[in-house]
Amino acid sequence: MKAYRASLLWFAPHSEGPVRALFEEDGLLVVGPNAAGNQVVQAIGSYRDVVDRYPGVAVEHFPGRIIAPGFVDMHVHYPQTNVIGSPADGLLPWLENYTFPEEKRFAAPEYSAQAATFFIAELLRNGVTTALTFATSHTESVNALFTEAQAQHMRIITGLCLMDRNAPAELLNQGQGTVGATEQSLRDTEALIQRWHGKDRLGYAITPRFAPTCTEAQLRGAGDLAQQYPDVWIQSHVAENKDEITWARELFPQSRSYLATYDDFGLMRQRAVYAHCIYLDDADRALMRDTGTAAAISPTSNLFLGSGFFDYAGADRVGFQYGLASDVGGGTSFSPFHTMLGAYCVGREGQTKQGLSLHPQHLWWQHTAGAARALGLEGVVGNLLPGCEADFVVLNPKATPLLARKTALAANLDELLFSMIVLGDDRLVERTVVSQAL
Ligand code: GUN
Ligand code: ZN
Repeated sequence: MKAYRASLLWFAPHSEGPVRALFEEDGLLVVGPNAAGNQVVQAIGSYRDVVDRYPGVAVEHFPGRIIAPGFVDMHVHYPQTNVIGSPADGLLPWLENYTFPEEKRFAAPEYSAQAATFFIAELLRNGVTTALTFATSHTESVNALFTEAQAQHMRIITGLCLMDRNAPAELLNQGQGTVGATEQSLRDTEALIQRWHGKDRLGYAITPRFAPTCTEAQLRGAGDLAQQYPDVWIQSHVAENKDEITWARELFPQSRSYLATYDDFGLMRQRAVYAHCIYLDDADRALMRDTGTAAAISPTSNLFLGSGFFDYAGADRVGFQYGLASDVGGGTSFSPFHTMLGAYCVGREGQTKQGLSLHPQHLWWQHTAGAARALGLEGVVGNLLPGCEADFVVLNPKATPLLARKTALAANLDELLFSMIVLGDDRLVERTVVSQAL
């Protein structure tokens, strides 16, 4: 067992009602192994109340620092690190001119391996300890990321990108011998599930890139696998950009909407996560809610690519789950602080209707406990309640002169959180600790 003394930030259990951050100025976080040998939170509270219950446990003291849950990035592309900051008229030309050419390079295992190493290090440097991430359509890229994530004890969920049409030949899933590309992509998916899903802290996500680059047969096969393996994740993109929607509607005119296309192929359920979800109507929102599907909101990407603004008021009115995501390389930063600030600005767009979503506690929750809940990982990551895996960040609110000046003025928790959301970046994250298996 080990204990950490610092200011502590965490969240009240969801069962207790609306989102509420908890803060202990002089706190103690005690971590120790669970039955499976993973480090989990044993106790959290004020130093005075907790310390006597753990005599002899070594205490590491971080004066002036804040320990908070590791961040959860609900949607990011590890092969797009080099694509950050590539300007384009919109999503489709951006994919064609920058993203697809870079993703082609991941056919080479060495290229994938160095990109995976950089990506995992960059997540950790920014305080992200759990991520649902795209790889490319090459199995090499998936194996490289899982291998590196396992070595770093990271909770990473990823999968083979399924695309069997409407993309450059080098990026379409490849057949082998007499087996066609579509069938091979489904066989590869199943083999990767069996190799990686549930191993240490790794999870598999069935990953149709988006409906326009998948045939009906591929979406149907993906849906069949999703039914066969109910605890694997599903990830894709939906309703991000108006040209994309027009294209998807032309390809799948029989579905009620672009989103409903995924439902028609059995790809909406708990642990299904759709990035963007900007242009939904209320029937779509009800479909999200009723199937237990979650949205990954990517404000910096949506602003950079000019895609649009997520409708928080609509989501809260109908009541489906969502959380925050960087969406690097459409997104402009790995930093959860930049993403939370982007979400705040997007929330302002519908200010008169918003309320809760603009609140600093709610923004922070969307990138930690709320994102974990949307991923079906409530009580596992994204919080520091007893039993949660011990993934946390040590924040230095005096990391820059301006942060020091501003956070010193904070009169309450909301002002402190908001100062960090607005001024924070990787410099605020002094240390990232991930739960280690013993
Ligand atoms: N839609 C399909 N592929 C992508 C991608 O790589 N990034 C974004 N932002 N949207 C997509
Ligand atoms: Zn994406």
